[in-house]
Amino acid sequence: VTVKGSNLMAVAHRVTGAQRKARNGHEGAVIWLTGLSGAGKSTIAIEAESRLFALGYQVYVLDGDNVRAGLNANLGFSPEDRAENIRRVGEVAALMADAGLVVVTAFISPYRSDRDRARKAAGARFCEVHISADLSVCEERDPKGLYARARAGEIQDFTGIDAPYEPPEAPELVLDTGRETAEASVDRLVDFIRARVGPG
Ligand code: PPS
Repeated sequence: VTVKGSNLMAVAHRVTGAQRKARNGHEGAVIWLTGLSGAGKSTIAIEAESRLFALGYQVYVLDGDNVRAGLNANLGFSPEDRAENIRRVGEVAALMADAGLVVVTAFISPYRSDRDRARKAAGARFCEVHISADLSVCEERDPKGLYARARAGEIQDFTGIDAPYEPPEAPELVLDTGRETAEASVDRLVDFIRARVGPG
């Protein structure tokens, strides 16, 4: 995006990243979950959040349905709106990670280019986690009845049905919720995050 303001001068923080890390006992990070509707992103993110919180981590989940109710209430599901959704979330998550938090995001984020931009915003703090259940598994689960409605033509541009999902090419972690239990996936995610950001 083009920066519209002119005469901008970045303000330097006096609190350092090292000070924030020392207080929290861990690094900030953006743990970017991506996957189809019904793959288990929210379930895994929310369970990982409570486990990490109990262990003393400063952790917060940004979830598609929640963020679309507020910050992104003006956005729908066209490719342009999804790009703007992910751009805003990528920037917010990067700021929160800079503040020292472990941010777990749960968005379909179907386009590679949008996820790559989120990675650029957060830099080395970013890792991509593919919640990789097959479409058939997600459609069978259909927890919100949305696949049935998409198949019936009541919802347009539904990811996996008449809108694309571009799987990650080199994710830092893959959790196949079609082949392992949600609990096993959460265990692996929590271990991965702790190894990445420090003991908490
Ligand atoms: S995206 O693609 O990243 O901008 O989507 P996201 O912000 O994660 O929002 C996905 C949730 O919106 C509901 N929903 C749809 N999903 C996909 N396609 C269409 N057309 C659509 N319409 C509504 C759906 O509940 C998604 O939630 P999850 O948790 O992924 O099932």
